[in-house]
Amino acid sequence: MNISFRTPLCILLLSIAFSTNLSAQQPERNPFSQNSAVSQSPQGYTKEGVFGHKAMVVSAHPLASQIGAEILRHGGNAFDATVAVQFALAVAFPVAGNIGGGGFIVARMANGKTISLDFREAAPMNASRDMYLDSAGNVVPRLSTFGHKASGVPGTVDAMVQLHKKYGKLPWKALVQPAVDIARHGVFLTVREAEGLNEVREALELYNPGKAYFCKPDKSPWRAGDKLVQEDLANTLERIRDKGRNGFYRGKTAELLVAEMKRGGGYITQQDLDAYSAKWRTPLRGSYRGHNIITMPPPSAGGVGLLQMLTLLEAQPLKEWGVNTEKSAHCMIEIERRVYADRAEYLGDPDFYNVPMKGLLDAQYLRSRMSNYSPEKATPSTEITYGKDVRSFGNTDQTTHFSIVDPAGNVVALTTTLNGGYGSKIVVDGAGFFMNNEMDDFSVKPGAPNMFGAIGGEANAIQPRKRMLSSMTPTIVEKNGNFSFAIGTPGGTTITTSVLQGIINIIDHNMTAQQAVNTKRFHHQYVPDIVRVEQGAFTSEVESALQRKGHTFRSIGTIGKLEIILRRADGSLEGAADPRGDDMAVGF
Ligand code: GLY
Repeated sequence: MNISFRTPLCILLLSIAFSTNLSAQQPERNPFSQNSAVSQSPQGYTKEGVFGHKAMVVSAHPLASQIGAEILRHGGNAFDATVAVQFALAVAFPVAGNIGGGGFIVARMANGKTISLDFREAAPMNASRDMYLDSAGNVVPRLSTFGHKASGVPGTVDAMVQLHKKYGKLPWKALVQPAVDIARHGVFLTVREAEGLNEVREALELYNPGKAYFCKPDKSPWRAGDKLVQEDLANTLERIRDKGRNGFYRGKTAELLVAEMKRGGGYITQQDLDAYSAKWRTPLRGSYRGHNIITMPPPSAGGVGLLQMLTLLEAQPLKEWGVNTEKSAHCMIEIERRVYADRAEYLGDPDFYNVPMKGLLDAQYLRSRMSNYSPEKATPSTEITYGKDVRSFGNTDQTTHFSIVDPAGNVVALTTTLNGGYGSKIVVDGAGFFMNNEMDDFSVKPGAPNMFGAIGGEANAIQPRKRMLSSMTPTIVEKNGNFSFAIGTPGGTTITTSVLQGIINIIDHNMTAQQAVNTKRFHHQYVPDIVRVEQGAFTSEVESALQRKGHTFRSIGTIGKLEIILRRADGSLEGAADPRGDDMAVGF
């Protein structure tokens, strides 16, 4: 199929962009009403799954999901749709969708081949180990999280170009054009988006003096239904559309980015942009109750942690214990605290630090980590440290996730981020996009918590061109050698435990994809020694019983936004978008 960006595909997509308003952003109805999986989660949300015969897109924004689905309807494959959705999210979901950030892809071809692409941001060449410390060796507050110095070298555009070159079918221009159109003509804000922009307004003004980005012309607060027009971003996307990699890493966009860095004392130079390249990596593979788990290797800590936790949970009767019960939650929390202790010590960019993968994933080693586990009481994190024997096994709130299945059976799971909501809060003047604050995901000082409270040490210390550790866990699960489901979520350090709970809800508790997403979640990460919990995740009896065992709870609004696409027994697809956001599944 030969489609150029000026063909009817573009016109069709444009008409979607214009017609997508708040009232149009309703989930599709279930076409299989006689065997519908109505989502009545025991713990909370009641959103329903969306069903399709052969293709599905689930993302954090209705417009992005619709654009992805239209690419698939017009003969594009999952990789084409990935490019279109990534750029659409950079416009319609600026809190986390991006061209100024990075992420990870795990994909499974229709023939069963699996790949992963690491487009994590890299430390600039001028970065140094103690760059966020003062002369007394103390962490300078906000330096790694706000402003020009907080950014790593962005990876998103290079990844999209590489992905498309290798696996795309439709012309590049046709995939970028929908994002140009929605940036140029405007996107209607949802309630959450309007509130998000209002909340960040003070920081935007502080870090972008004299710029008018993401402000209404009359400076009044944003309201749901207001239209956000992004002319400069449209121009930037046109350069990317016309010049590919050079539309971002060279020429006008690069000049604007480097000038922005100079203006605020940032580190990224033209040399950094020239040197950046996304990296193809071998996906990590493991198994759980007869399913194959295909997930992201380092520099994400997510895949390793997920496989460690699944290995330890496989021996436990989770199905018998039930969802979010005293027994299941206690066991999961105790496993999580030990796995996150390993993360703090051993995980970092494998191109700079020798991550002891074989030891970390060894079943005997993992069992040894539970030697001081008691089913009766919590083990305080002060009594836990990372596993000491791991080397003897040899050397051998914001992110977003989307999943896509195309009619041929190719599957993409992609998690992408600016790190915090709206990243560093710096908008590149003249180019109109947010820069990431991903440098905070390094361990800026051993034992000093990052914005997610995670600690680290040597493995994740800052070095020029090194990639900072991540928790992003895009994952694909196979059953009997066939695709079963794709899963991922935002949520910083909670990402790995949310993906874990999604997998267990489907495999152990026989939930539909939407029920698995709707179920309330909890999280423990070693330090701080608290269980973060969504309100209603536990009954008051269970919570009291867990407190008696020594667990301390901190209630937080929501944890993550899981997006799942599940192939059902009859071959049809269930798309489950998280009710915690404006997320939407579109299938056909
Ligand atoms: N920036 C969040 C993560 O990569 O885990």
